[in-house]
Amino acid sequence: MAGDARIPENMAFIESAGAGGPEVLRPGRMAVPRPGPGEVLIEVAAAGVNRPDVLQRSGNYPPPPGASDVLGLEVAGTVVGLGDGVDGALAGQKVCALVHSGGYAEYCVAASPLCLPVPEGFSMIEAAALPETFFTVWTNVFERGRLVAGETILIHGGSSGIGTTAIQLAKARGTTVIVTAGSAEKCRACEDLGADHAIDYKTEDFAARVKELTEGGVDLVLCMVGGSYIQRNFQVLKVEGRLVQIAFLGGAKAEVDFTPLMIKRLTFTGSTLRPRTVAQKAAIAKALRAEVWPLFEEGTVRPVISQVLPLAEAARAHALMEESRHIGKIMLDVEGGGTG
Ligand SMILES: NC(=O)c1ccc[n+]([C@@H]2O[C@H](COP(=O)([O-])OP(=O)(O)OC[C@H]3O[C@@H](n4cnc5c(N)ncnc54)[C@H](OP(=O)(O)O)[C@@H]3O)[C@@H](O)[C@H]2O)c1
Repeated sequence: MAGDARIPENMAFIESAGAGGPEVLRPGRMAVPRPGPGEVLIEVAAAGVNRPDVLQRSGNYPPPPGASDVLGLEVAGTVVGLGDGVDGALAGQKVCALVHSGGYAEYCVAASPLCLPVPEGFSMIEAAALPETFFTVWTNVFERGRLVAGETILIHGGSSGIGTTAIQLAKARGTTVIVTAGSAEKCRACEDLGADHAIDYKTEDFAARVKELTEGGVDLVLCMVGGSYIQRNFQVLKVEGRLVQIAFLGGAKAEVDFTPLMIKRLTFTGSTLRPRTVAQKAAIAKALRAEVWPLFEEGTVRPVISQVLPLAEAARAHALMEESRHIGKIMLDVEGGGTG
């Protein structure tokens, strides 16, 4: 790695000039990072934009200890450098990786167990769209949420990056899928992806509608809203139902009557992905490789890409995410759109 002539000393990246709106994101230059033990250096072709990046940019989601403050939680590219102890077979491989930070850049360091092969027939943009949402959905829906074939799941934010992933994985597992989304167009897109029912939460009360659509409610709710949804999530869950909270877009505080939790023997849990150890994330990577990568290869599951912008336009990508008209993922093209 040291002194490798193919790797430049400096690279283009997106710097954040303090906490604030999308305009704080600007193209800059910095030293190419060096992989530590167990890590690889990836020459980035594409990176995903995720809602946690928006929260971090606005100062509401500080990076965990040890992570750089460069945004970006997922990339796809080519392995161009190996840290100590990494299997030499990874050199030159095209991979996608879940990263701690630093994805909005031409080069990025990743823990080697969090690199997965680019699925056959996928573009680098599509591959970069996989890690953050597939790791998150897998661990929350199937591990914490224990969703199994024959059950029914309610997914809030069905048209989000997370939602479009959850719809496809839940359908692939043989479950019935109900989603909420914020417009008729988003609802249609969710149904086109396989959702059995889509509820426009801006025109209908989702709890009343779920009652009409089901016999006794749903087995699992995947929720990114919180706030006033918590009580209604309790209402729509069946006996022994599970509520998995992955964000609080509608607020982390609410006055809630917890009686249904006890009467229906509900489980209310939640998690964040980013602060977990490499070993914990590696266990998720292993499960994805075994259970989900075959679905990509047989063509049953594919990421939904809403927009692709050059890396230099990361600020516009954030503004688009905050406008919330997208369906699926917003991506940064790094190879074709470097900041010069
Ligand atoms: N816990 C974890 O480990 C973890 C990991 C990754 C992501 N997340 C969280 O998962 C969520 C989705 O992430 P993403 O990257 O897929 O983002 P995204 O594509 O921007 O999706 C956010 C969705 O939330 C809905 N929404 C936004 N504000 C809302 C509000 N105030 N009330 C209700 N709905 C609202 C929007 O849908 P409508 O227009 O239909 O309302 C939008 O589809 C984010 O909150 C993110 O922080 C959690």
